[in-house]
Amino acid sequence: MSEKLAIHGGPKAKTTPNIPMYPGGLEIGEEEKKQVLEVLERKYLFRYYGPEEYPSKVRELEKAFAKKVGAKHALAVNSCTSALITALVACGVGPGDEVIVSGYTFFASCAAIVSAKAIPVIAEVDETLTIDPDDIEKKITPSTKALVVVHMRGVPCDMDRIMAIAKKHNLRVIEDVAQAMGGTYKGKYLGTFGDCGCYSFQYHKIITAGEGGMVVTNDDRLYDRCMGYHDTAACWRPDRFAEERYEGELFCGVNYRMSELTGAVMLAQLGKLDTLLSLMRRNQKRIIEQIKDTKGIKVRPVNDPEGDTGICLMFYLDSKDKVKNFVEALRAEGVEAAGVYNSGIPDWHIYAHWKHVIQKKTPTPEGCPWTCPFHKGKPVEYSEDMNPKTLEYLSRVVHIDIPPQLTLEDCDMIAKAINKVAAELA
Ligand SMILES: Cc1ncc(COP(=O)(O)O)c(C=O)c1O
Repeated sequence: MSEKLAIHGGPKAKTTPNIPMYPGGLEIGEEEKKQVLEVLERKYLFRYYGPEEYPSKVRELEKAFAKKVGAKHALAVNSCTSALITALVACGVGPGDEVIVSGYTFFASCAAIVSAKAIPVIAEVDETLTIDPDDIEKKITPSTKALVVVHMRGVPCDMDRIMAIAKKHNLRVIEDVAQAMGGTYKGKYLGTFGDCGCYSFQYHKIITAGEGGMVVTNDDRLYDRCMGYHDTAACWRPDRFAEERYEGELFCGVNYRMSELTGAVMLAQLGKLDTLLSLMRRNQKRIIEQIKDTKGIKVRPVNDPEGDTGICLMFYLDSKDKVKNFVEALRAEGVEAAGVYNSGIPDWHIYAHWKHVIQKKTPTPEGCPWTCPFHKGKPVEYSEDMNPKTLEYLSRVVHIDIPPQLTLEDCDMIAKAINKVAAELA
């Protein structure tokens, strides 16, 4: 006889308090305070100058970040959205171009393409819940210029296939690593495969300063162009007012610069990354080990399990009709589980809810980029059910965050709850 479910009045499987998913955020402490106080004491709040000369925290962060992930250059910005726009612009994406993006990602990955004046083409994900390389191939047209591939919910995309497709069709690749900082694919850090890698330091991310972002690249010219776009004041140039050193160096940009306060917090947070990753991975493994053979559930496959950051556990049920009851039963057991796709519940991570793209909403009536006269070929159209595989996978999946602060006892209780509920409802 299986144990009575908590939702039916039985004892809870998990009796310890739940921990919110702010991996780095919850670890903010003395190291961050020391870094920030140093900035304040020096009155050096701007990366390029202050009342007295000091080394910039933002520059120090860029150097440490590039070294950590093994990239030639890193450029700090104020968010991942700005990192994505900067990378797209630097790669020469613009009017008339199509950019293929995953249909399961935070909406910003898609919005950035529109902000860069190009037209997003939304692709399916496969069972790993990252972009489906087969669908990328189907969606390439002569107007396709780039791919935005998202290492979604902490796991790597199939970078071997993606890079092979990009090479064959001469496409730029921009990696969105917002949710997978420190993740790897076949031993190499995510963000270093494509032309540019983009990261987020928003509060929900693995390491955080509340807001912030980073672009990395191995290409000197792309780095220059990223710098040029992110700081239109051209503070970064050896001589701000000098003539263009090569064609394509100078153009109008924006101000996405990172503040020294953010840089200071991030320097301390970067130092905590490996510990956070090893704890999340330890916790995730501990739970998976206990549920991997459970009847009726299938743990999300991962392109390279070694490179998974371990931020969450996602598993499939065999029918979408089981998800609601399964999740409610898990919550009653004391586990903060969630379903992912439900057409009635808005969620900015699923393309079917991206109304502004589906309805081609734009801030001015001309309808750019969708009406762009430089766009050749068939108009790009959207509908809520255009990527049925994505919706099918997402409607069957259950999601549980895995904070690094969980104890092994917490993990065992989570696994116990999943097994208990699966025995009745899977
Ligand atoms: C996959 C993905 N891309 C991009 C972003 C945007 O990041 P930011 O809030 O730093 O602009 C996020 C943030 O939630 C994200 O999860």
